[in-house]
Amino acid sequence: MQPHDKLFIPGPVEVSAKTWAAFSRPMIGHRGEDFKNLYRSIHPNLQTLFGTKQPVFLSTSSAWGVMEASIRNLVDRAVLCCMCGAFSDKWSDVAKRCGKNAEALQVDWGKHIDHKVVDRQLATGKFDTVTLIHNETSTGVMNPLGEICCILAKYPDVTLIVDTVSSFSGVKIDMDALGIDVMLTGAQKALALPPGFSLFSVSERAFARAEKIPNRGFYFDFLEFRKQQAQWMTPSTPSIAHIHALQSKLDEIFEEGLDARFDRHSRTNVLVHDWVRRTGFDFFAEQGFRSKTLTCVKNNKGIDVLAFAKKLRERHHLVIDPGYGKIRGQTFRLSNMGDETEETVSYLLACIDDVL
Ligand SMILES: Cc1ncc(COP(=O)(O)O)c(C=O)c1O
Repeated sequence: MQPHDKLFIPGPVEVSAKTWAAFSRPMIGHRGEDFKNLYRSIHPNLQTLFGTKQPVFLSTSSAWGVMEASIRNLVDRAVLCCMCGAFSDKWSDVAKRCGKNAEALQVDWGKHIDHKVVDRQLATGKFDTVTLIHNETSTGVMNPLGEICCILAKYPDVTLIVDTVSSFSGVKIDMDALGIDVMLTGAQKALALPPGFSLFSVSERAFARAEKIPNRGFYFDFLEFRKQQAQWMTPSTPSIAHIHALQSKLDEIFEEGLDARFDRHSRTNVLVHDWVRRTGFDFFAEQGFRSKTLTCVKNNKGIDVLAFAKKLRERHHLVIDPGYGKIRGQTFRLSNMGDETEETVSYLLACIDDVL
C-alpha cells in the first residue's frame, strides 16, 4: 500500500488494516438470517460498552442524525442545551430548526458545564429535556457527567440526552447507572471505524416520552428502531460494512479488556499533557475538566499553527488539527483516540518537536 498521511485529528482517526479488511467482507442481505446473527452476536458487547441493559441501536448516519433524532423524539415543552463549544452550541440551533423551544446554558469555550447552574435552570420547571456533550471535541473539555447526572436525578420528568461521540470506548461511561436517557456515539472517534455510522441506546423513560411526541418521522423514529431491533433488524438498509467492521473492533476491544483500553487512553493522554507542559504551551480547557481522548493545545507561544500543521504533514505524513471554528490558529488539537499506543503517540510528539 502507498504510504498515507496518518490522522491524529480528533476524528476521523486512523482506521487499521484489520478493520478495513472486516469492512470489505462479502455483502449479506439485511433481512436475512446472516444479518440477524451478526446483530445478535455484537449486541451483548455493545450493551457492556454502553453500560446498559437497554437495546443498542445501529444508525446509518453520522452522529448528528441521532442528535437531531433525540430532539425530535423527546422534546415536548422545551430543551435546555448545555453549550460549551462548537458541537454543543450547535445543538440549540438544531433544536430550533426542528421547531422546538430551546434555551442555551452557555459558558465560554474552554470552560465546563457546572452542575449547579443546570440545577438552577431545571428548577424553573420550564424544561423537559437537556442536551449535553460529554467530551466537547472542539475545546478539549470533558464535562463532569457524574455530577450533572446526579442533578438530573432530582428531576424525574426531565430526559437527558448525552453525546459521547469523542469519549465513548476511551473512558468508562455507564448509561444505566448514570440515568442517561439517550446515549449516542459516532464511529470515527475512539472506535476507530470509518465515518458515517453511529450507535445509540434509549431508556424506558425516553421511549415512553417518544410515544407521546407527534411527527417523529420514520428514519430516526426511536420506536421503529425498538420494533426492528426486537427482531435483530434495523428500520432501513444499514451500512452492513460498518457493522462487519464494528464486530471486528468489538472483538479487539474485549480482547484488550475494557479497563486496559481505558488505561491505555489515559496513559497516551498523559504523554500529550506532559509534552504540553514541557514545551511551554498551555491547555485551552480549564484544569480539572480536560479530555482524556484529545488535547486542545492553546497557542500561547504564537506559532503559525497552519504552517506548522502543513509542515508536519509534508515532512512526517502526520495530520493534526489546527483548531476548530473560531479558535482555529489559536489552538491545535492532538488526538489519542482509537488504536494509538504510547509508542505511536511518542512518535507523533517527537515529529512535532522536530517540526517546531
Ligand atoms: C462531540 C461531537 N459531537 C458530534 C459530532 C458530530 O459528528 P458527525 O459529524 O459525525 O455527525 C462531533 C464531530 O466531530 C463531535 O466531536
